[in-house]
Amino acid sequence: MRAGGRARRELTGMPAPVVQGWGVSSSAKPDPLRPDALSDASFRLMVQSAVDYAIFMLDTAGRVASWNIGAERIKGYPATEIIGRHFSVFYPPEDLATGKPAYELREATAVGRFEDEGWRLRRDGSRFWANVVITALFDEHGELQGFGKVTRDLTERVKANHKLVERRRLFTHLVEAHEAERRRITWDVHDDAIQAMVAVGMRLQLLEGNAPVGGLRQTVHRLAETVDETTVRLRNLVSRLQPPALGERGLADVLSGHLAQVTDEGNLDFRLHAELPEDLPPETAVTIYRIIQEAVTNVRKHAMATTVDVSMRELDGGVLVRVQDDGVGLPGADGVGELGHFGLLYMRERAESAGGWWQATGAATGTVVEFWVPSAPQDVGTIDGSVW
Ligand SMILES: Nc1ncnc2c1ncn2[C@@H]1O[C@H](COP(=O)(O)OP(=O)(O)OP(=O)(O)O)[C@@H](O)[C@H]1O
Ligand SMILES: [Mg+2]
Repeated sequence: MRAGGRARRELTGMPAPVVQGWGVSSSAKPDPLRPDALSDASFRLMVQSAVDYAIFMLDTAGRVASWNIGAERIKGYPATEIIGRHFSVFYPPEDLATGKPAYELREATAVGRFEDEGWRLRRDGSRFWANVVITALFDEHGELQGFGKVTRDLTERVKANHKLVERRRLFTHLVEAHEAERRRITWDVHDDAIQAMVAVGMRLQLLEGNAPVGGLRQTVHRLAETVDETTVRLRNLVSRLQPPALGERGLADVLSGHLAQVTDEGNLDFRLHAELPEDLPPETAVTIYRIIQEAVTNVRKHAMATTVDVSMRELDGGVLVRVQDDGVGLPGADGVGELGHFGLLYMRERAESAGGWWQATGAATGTVVEFWVPSAPQDVGTIDGSVW
């Protein structure tokens, strides 16, 4: 059996279409719900007037045999100028050099259909990013009659995609800058403030030992205690600021360690549920980690909760996270932007700068912090960025 005959049935799953001139009709009884129930004339009219798609025919040698309004709009040739010319005029030189136009017709003939995305040329020589489908058309004897070709201009979509990629690049820089800043503050606090506090604490202990028993010694003792507590708080700050080792252990593992550590210090239990995409980009993982860290700090500081539930799951090309406690709930509307309080604001800003959203809701049964951040946008791979 000829390859074409096989492809024809695979393609349509219907009785073989018959090519009459350049209109396609069916030899079977028409079903009113099927497009082939349309008369040749109305079908031709529909194709002719479609403006968003270039829909045209090629003869078996690849010469343009019909042309519609969409083709004229997208490619810039009027019908009178293009009919009869070989369709390779639409291809850029690099594709001509590799024989791509002929290859596409061969593939369409062999398997019935060929689909491609790539650069094509307009009449004025400018390029557009096209989605192209070529369908081989056979008559009832399995003889090739020509090709149907549908081309869509995806340039706007690709530009939008580039903007997304650019935004993502900026976001990655922002996250890196955030983390670098935190690292710098960590060193400053550790090497400067903590060392100074430790030295003050040691001197106060000496002073306490030498002070006469009574009011002065007690005062120095209290001072030394305050200095020790402050040193512990600064050490906690250093450990919170430190960049998480997400690259080595993965988000769920590092987060689980963090939750175990911080809940161990109080009467708080935690539950962690993680269903994460495998290819989570590092900047997204850091963003999720930092927001959860801030939310859990709030639970410890304000909620008086017994349990905190953290869940992360893949949703709509990103990750949806919920941090829920069973504590006293938020005091006001959502508390964001309260003077001198930065935690809620910081969480929202981080989620939004990642292109996501964030919200906090509080009830008598506790507080829910919920946010969604996207994973990386789709790879636009083969597109040559220099063209834009
Ligand atoms: N899980 C929670 N349970 C109860 N109240 C909360 C919770 N999270 C936040 N709050 C309330 O919202 C207020 C604002 O929180 P936010 O994190 O912005 O500031 P903060 O924790 O007071 O200070 P910081 O700037 O150190 O984060 C808190 O002062 C607290 O009253
Ligand atoms: Mg806070």
